[in-house]
Amino acid sequence: MPRPILEIDHLTHAFFNGTGIHDICARIFPGEFILVAGPNGSGKTTLIKHLNALVRPTSGEIRLHGRSVTKDLIVTRKTIGMVFQDADTQIVADTVEDEVAFGLENLNTPRARILEKVDQTLAYMNLIHLKDRNPSTLSGGEKRRLAIAGILVMDPEIIVLDEPFANLDYPASRDLVEIICRLNREGQTIIMATHEVEEVITYASRMLIMDGQGRLVKDGPPRELLGNLEYFGIREPCFSRMGYSAPPWQT
Ligand SMILES: Nc1ncnc2c1ncn2[C@@H]1O[C@H](COP(=O)(O)OP(=O)(O)OP(=O)(O)O)[C@@H](O)[C@H]1O
Ligand SMILES: [Mg+2]
Repeated sequence: MPRPILEIDHLTHAFFNGTGIHDICARIFPGEFILVAGPNGSGKTTLIKHLNALVRPTSGEIRLHGRSVTKDLIVTRKTIGMVFQDADTQIVADTVEDEVAFGLENLNTPRARILEKVDQTLAYMNLIHLKDRNPSTLSGGEKRRLAIAGILVMDPEIIVLDEPFANLDYPASRDLVEIICRLNREGQTIIMATHEVEEVITYASRMLIMDGQGRLVKDGPPRELLGNLEYFGIREPCFSRMGYSAPPWQT
C-alpha cells in the first residue's frame, strides 16, 4: 500500500456563526483524482483552504508527507498548488508570460531556466499564442488555464482546483477536463471541489461528499455513489438520470 501524500485528521473549522466543517478524516494517495462534492455551503472551499494552510483549523490537522501543512508554509505551498474559482484574484503580472514566470522568479530560478519552463508550460496549457497578452484581456477559460499554468510551472505534487468549471462554456470546460485528465494520467494528484460533477465524474478515482452541515458523509469510488447523488444535494449526471443501467466506464 502506498503511503498517503495527504492525511486529513479530524479536521474541524467552526465559524462564529456555527457553520464550518466538522471532524473530517480522509487520506489521499499519490496519483488520485479526488472530487470533493456537495451543495453550496457544505464546506468544500473551507476544506481545501486548509490544505495549503490558508486558514487554520479549530482542531485537527492536515499532514503532507506525514508533516503538518502549517510547519513549513513554503514547502506546503510549493507542493500543493491551488487554483481558485476567481482567476482574477490570482493575477499579478502584466503579461501572460510574466504571470507564469512569477512563482519561479520568487524562487530565484536562473533566468534561462525560467524562460524554458514558462514556454513549456504555456505550450502544455495551449496558451503560447497569448504569451504577450495582458492577462486581464483573456477570456474566462483562458484565465483559468493561465491560473493552472502558474501553478503547474512550479512542479507541484498536488493540484487543487475550486469550482474550475464556474462560468466556463462547454468547449472551455471540455478543454479543461482534457488538460486535467492528461495531468492525472501523467501521475499528477488532483483534488477538485465542485457542486457540478457531470463533467468529471467518469474520470475521478474517488469522491468525497460533504453535507449541508460541513460533514464528510461519503468517501468512495464514483461508480458506487452514482445513482444516490440527488440524496446528497448533488445533481445526477445526465447519463445516470436517463436511466442507463451502467455508467460509461462499465460499458
Ligand atoms: N469567513 C467565514 N465566516 C463565516 N462563515 C463562513 C466563512 N467562510 C465560509 N463560511 C460559511 O461556512 C460554510 C461553508 O462555506 P464554503 O464556502 O466552504 O462552502 P462551499 O461548499 O465551498 O460552497 P459553494 O458551493 O457555494 O462554493 C457556509 O455556511 C459559509 O457561509
Ligand atoms: Mg466553494
